[in-house]
Amino acid sequence: MQAPATRKSTIIRPATTDVIAEAGRRLRDGKLVAFPTETVYGLGADATNGKAVARIYAAKGRPAFNPLIVHVADALDAQAVGVFDGPLANLAAAFWPGPLTIVTSRSDACEVSELATAGLETVAIRVPANDTARRIIRAAGRPIVAPSANRSGHVSATTAAHVVADLGDADAFVVDGGQTTIGIESTIVALAGDQKTELRLLRSGAITAEELSKASGLVVRDIADATDDVTPTAPGQLTSHYAPQARVRLNATYAEPGEALLAFGEPLQPATADFRNLSERGDLLEAAANLFLHLRELDATGAAAIAVMPIPETGLGIAINDRLRRAAAPRPAKSAS
Ligand code: TXA
Ligand code: MG
Repeated sequence: MQAPATRKSTIIRPATTDVIAEAGRRLRDGKLVAFPTETVYGLGADATNGKAVARIYAAKGRPAFNPLIVHVADALDAQAVGVFDGPLANLAAAFWPGPLTIVTSRSDACEVSELATAGLETVAIRVPANDTARRIIRAAGRPIVAPSANRSGHVSATTAAHVVADLGDADAFVVDGGQTTIGIESTIVALAGDQKTELRLLRSGAITAEELSKASGLVVRDIADATDDVTPTAPGQLTSHYAPQARVRLNATYAEPGEALLAFGEPLQPATADFRNLSERGDLLEAAANLFLHLRELDATGAAAIAVMPIPETGLGIAINDRLRRAAAPRPAKSAS
């Protein structure tokens, strides 16, 4: 069998000490590095660098900004990103390092880009069991977001060759650590219920509901069986979306007095003091990285409406417009959450 052709932009290297150091440097520089975990290969980027995170969405061709999992080297580093107490601390102690992703509140010190969490208040975190993965994260010295290293909609990659076949033109550095051992993505859980006394299984994986229940002392319910309305955002059924207080008006060709303006490229003559530019250069990568931050900042001004200039419906612009349309969509009657 012939090895898949490595396109010029993607580099594949065995997981030696030097290569791991190089992977860390590249991540710090905002570049993409694909690496093995015990579940599937991940396409990694510096979680604190919005532009690097935007590169992931572009490379994967994700139609929308699904929130990403933040990978850290140990449970202590996880506490710098999310809040772990009570049952969640027990789960972390029982299953990390390992194929469990825990969704929790962002910690006060959390530096993860809002693009990575899709503007949610929560963050998904895991400590992979794969030694190469943890060494790369340590070498980078910061939390790393890593979705499965496949094109959106394809099956996940369990070998470095799969990664190259799917993402060969993604300009990624692929660290080859052989075939992954588990091969399906991590189990994802979040606290749920009025008193946060239940566990919701958001995605099934190698760690079973029984094991989760035993370690946490909580009742575990599968998202598919949960009928309450306090269900957190679930993979593949992203109901929660970033909705600012302000009304959002899309494809604005003028800004009304009192409206805040979210510009893209050459700004409209701002009749408003409250103004942000997603990218003066009209760069979609930069715009994606700024999107949630700018929406939040404009919302904080207390303006009744945010006028958003048109964003081209190409490349990352598709994902940006998807999020903007969700933000602009008529709001359901106020729900409990
Ligand atoms: O095994 C894995 O988890 C692999 C390896 C690379 O670590 N990663 C992975 O990532 O499967 P990805 O991006 O393909 O899947 C992440 C899932 C998405 O379905 C997303 O909806 C969910 O995690 N997710 C992320 N943040 C979330 C949050 N705050 N609340 C609920 N779900 C979240
Ligand atoms: Mg995936």
